[in-house]
Amino acid sequence: MVTAPRILVTGTTGQVGGALWHAARSLPLTILPADRTVLDLADHPTIGDRLDAAAPDIVVNCAAYTAVDQAETEPERAFAVNGRGPGVVAEWCRNRGRALIHLSTDYVFDGLANRPYREDDPIDPQNVYGASKAEGEAAVRRACPHHVILRTAWVYAADGKNFFRTMLRLGQERPSLDVVADQRGGPTAADSIALALIAILQRMTSGPIEGIAGTYHYADAGETTWCGFADAIFARAEPHWGRRPAVRPITTDQYPTPAKRPHYSVLDTAKLGATFGIAPPSWQDSLDRVVARCFAASPRE
Ligand SMILES: NC(=O)c1ccc[n+]([C@@H]2O[C@H](COP(=O)([O-])OP(=O)(O)OC[C@H]3O[C@@H](n4cnc5c(N)ncnc54)[C@H](OP(=O)(O)O)[C@@H]3O)[C@@H](O)[C@H]2O)c1
Repeated sequence: MVTAPRILVTGTTGQVGGALWHAARSLPLTILPADRTVLDLADHPTIGDRLDAAAPDIVVNCAAYTAVDQAETEPERAFAVNGRGPGVVAEWCRNRGRALIHLSTDYVFDGLANRPYREDDPIDPQNVYGASKAEGEAAVRRACPHHVILRTAWVYAADGKNFFRTMLRLGQERPSLDVVADQRGGPTAADSIALALIAILQRMTSGPIEGIAGTYHYADAGETTWCGFADAIFARAEPHWGRRPAVRPITTDQYPTPAKRPHYSVLDTAKLGATFGIAPPSWQDSLDRVVARCFAASPRE
């Protein structure tokens, strides 16, 4: 009897890990959900034993320290979780001959480009979170030849802590909102990323990984600003609310945050398409889907 590949997924209480766990349930894969109580990326000495106990064929590391502003005052923790932690996981994968998929971020780039970032563009993170994720990428590349690093951007889901949820909350409370209009990126639904991860997993479990190891970008197609994203959210909420909050564009300078954000972080996803045949849906189509799910689950959102 052929046994299903064992896939350990970290960060299953988060947006991407949760979406992957949910989406993979119907597939012939054994998903081993590993939340922080099972595998703590900051507790480096315990990671090897925890992975030995679970004995996965592939690890998908969706866990991360994602509090971008808080990271500015907690750099040690951010680097422990996002930098050294993935490195320890990668060392275990190399030593046991296992493969690793590791999630990373558009925030490794400087935000000064005027065309979508490609995988081999130079990185230059502008904040502690981005620097900690860049260190994690480097640690994974160094330690484990059988890796796929998947950078993504502007992640949101029907649940969890994200810009989409914040806009739905504030939009119900206020007649108008001021939203930053000089940062461009690609809003990306967590369940879209989960589908991309499944395509990568299917490829990894059906043949040698050598030809596909490396770094890739996934984002839903198209680009906008936070202001454009907010307005699109409210356009879809309007039929449910019977009103539509006004969205007023402001500059980054008018909305200071502890961590500096890149002004432009659109990701070029062509390499992922060419290698895995993944064609991302438009961010607007994904938003339709997530909004529909949100209002179906909670009609008074
Ligand atoms: N969110 C974004 O906009 C964004 C953008 C680009 C890239 N990414 C990357 O995409 C990946 C997934 O992000 P996400 O949006 O799904 O994040 P998320 O919703 O914030 O979830 C983070 C997950 O990591 C877990 N975690 C935090 N510290 C941990 C630790 N020390 N040990 C083990 N688990 C820990 C959290 O567990 P608890 O529930 O216990 O805290 C949670 O399950 C990450 O690599 C992130 O850097 C995210």
